[in-house]
Amino acid sequence: MSELFKRTHMCGELNAENIDENIILNGWVAKRRNLGGLIFVDLRDKTGITQVVFNNDVPEELFNKADSLRGEFVIGIKGVVKERSSKNDKLPTGDIEVFANDIVIYSSAETPPIYIKDDDNVDDNLRLKYRYLDLRKKKMQDNLTLRHRVVKCTRDYFDFNGFTEVETPMLIKPTPEGARDYLVPSRMNPGHFYALPQSPQMFKQLLMVGGTDKYMQIVKCFRDEDLRADRQPEFTQIDLEMSFVDQDDVMSVQEGFLKKVMKDIKNVDIEIPFERLTYDDAMDRFGSDKPDTRFGFELKKLKEATSGCEFDVFNKAEDVRGICVENASSEFSRKNLDKIITEAKQYGCGGVVWIRVEEDKYNSSVNKFFDQDGLKKIADVFDAKPNDLILIVADKSKVVYDSLGFLRRHLASKLGLLDDNKFNFLWVVDFPLFEGDEETGEMKAMHHPFTQPKIDEIHMLDTEPLKVKADAYDIILNGVELGGGSIRIHDKDLQTKMFNVLGLTEAECDEKFGFLIEAFKYGVPPHAGLAYGLDRLVMLLLGESSIREVIAFPKNQNAECMVSEAPGIASKEQLEELGISVNE
Ligand code: AMO
Repeated sequence: MSELFKRTHMCGELNAENIDENIILNGWVAKRRNLGGLIFVDLRDKTGITQVVFNNDVPEELFNKADSLRGEFVIGIKGVVKERSSKNDKLPTGDIEVFANDIVIYSSAETPPIYIKDDDNVDDNLRLKYRYLDLRKKKMQDNLTLRHRVVKCTRDYFDFNGFTEVETPMLIKPTPEGARDYLVPSRMNPGHFYALPQSPQMFKQLLMVGGTDKYMQIVKCFRDEDLRADRQPEFTQIDLEMSFVDQDDVMSVQEGFLKKVMKDIKNVDIEIPFERLTYDDAMDRFGSDKPDTRFGFELKKLKEATSGCEFDVFNKAEDVRGICVENASSEFSRKNLDKIITEAKQYGCGGVVWIRVEEDKYNSSVNKFFDQDGLKKIADVFDAKPNDLILIVADKSKVVYDSLGFLRRHLASKLGLLDDNKFNFLWVVDFPLFEGDEETGEMKAMHHPFTQPKIDEIHMLDTEPLKVKADAYDIILNGVELGGGSIRIHDKDLQTKMFNVLGLTEAECDEKFGFLIEAFKYGVPPHAGLAYGLDRLVMLLLGESSIREVIAFPKNQNAECMVSEAPGIASKEQLEELGISVNE
């Protein structure tokens, strides 16, 4: 065992003020260069790098030890801080270097399988397999630190505002958030399973019944769903619930919270209250219920402007809409455009019609069917100018929204309009209560079944349920759904009614949610709440494009932990004890 050199400073801390001080540093060897009589070692810890020098004046044994150092050896050094003759502007410690007079090697290291360099382009799976090496990068440590600061800021804010953090169980009955559950077998109750919580939804409502009044929790949630850049199978929510409040109360507490986060973490002052957009308007204008409002290109209806045209696709389609990408037609070659249109087709559209507005004419992919007047009629809807590019989709409304929603974002991204330093917060409100499941056609709750229908639309629950709107709201930041919540049903009869509309029999209700209905018999306050995706919030604060970059040990695309190789195979004995047999 080597002696521990207790450090006096971190490696990113030293500067000209420390000149001539005797210091001790600990860290990893980032680089070692032997220039004959001089050995330079870049020593790294989470705060940064200091250049350490071993020169000919040191005893031979020490010089040889320094020469034996390799990348990622973990060492301690004692030395004196000196002014550097050739300063390095790029390093915060670039004004100084440390002349070492002692060294201890805590551990040697094999050549690491990935370079420990912020901008290194390593394969994602390799980064995840050797995550502990990846985490040595300054960027990753900075990301974790910022995440920590957001968590601290969150706890401080909600504590100050009278919220109590309460832990809820991890082994529960399924909560209906809409994804598949992760199941955990119960040894004590063979054939029975717990579910890991998709969210603490029902428990936080029970806490309101229990008189907790204002609840918050930073909590792990688990959902077995297809993964994307902003989705992980286990992720973290900032989960909140409040009693005796209406929608405005919930929103103003959240606006206060986000204002504080932006100030404390980014030193940015944001305007509150945030803009509110109804779901219908969001879809109508942006083709998305989480619109990115950092740029325009709003959708416009074109059914009227194209009525009576010779192009059957437009005539027969349920919906015809388009966007106008201003002053950018010349940015997209024909080949480029074809590629973008192919990408849009994954959203279900058969194609995308384009119109280029030129100085003295219109050029389009449907020149065969439209004369110049016909194209002008469309262009006038957008008040289009030369060099504008109009893109049109004709299809079912959902396909039109999805395809144009994609094209808006995609083209804005290609044109460099997604400014990471712009933070456009936005509430989307008045969501539909139900939606038809795309695969089964069955009706399901758009948010979850505990969401309050608009009071004056309750009478339509039986007759036109798909038209009923909910007291539900999402908070959007730059086109990402940061969080969502709702006013909850606190009337047990209405709650039962909701389950009925969703097609649950009394027995199913009892089995799944009996305990909540039971609790509602004994005095339940009006309550409402919301949950943020913490990972998404941190991702956006950092300008990262995936939540993996802000999670220490994320799962890969196949929901595997590359470090520990989970999920693994259970032993025969374990399975027998649990009464489980596995089909090979
Ligand atoms: P919801 O399902 O909208 O609401 O989830 C709330 C927020 O959690 C984040 N989120 C995710 N983040 C990463 N990976 C995932 N797989 C993932 N799924 C969701 C999103 C989302 O906005 N119980 C309700 C909240 C409530 O009504 O109070 C709920 O969980 O940022």
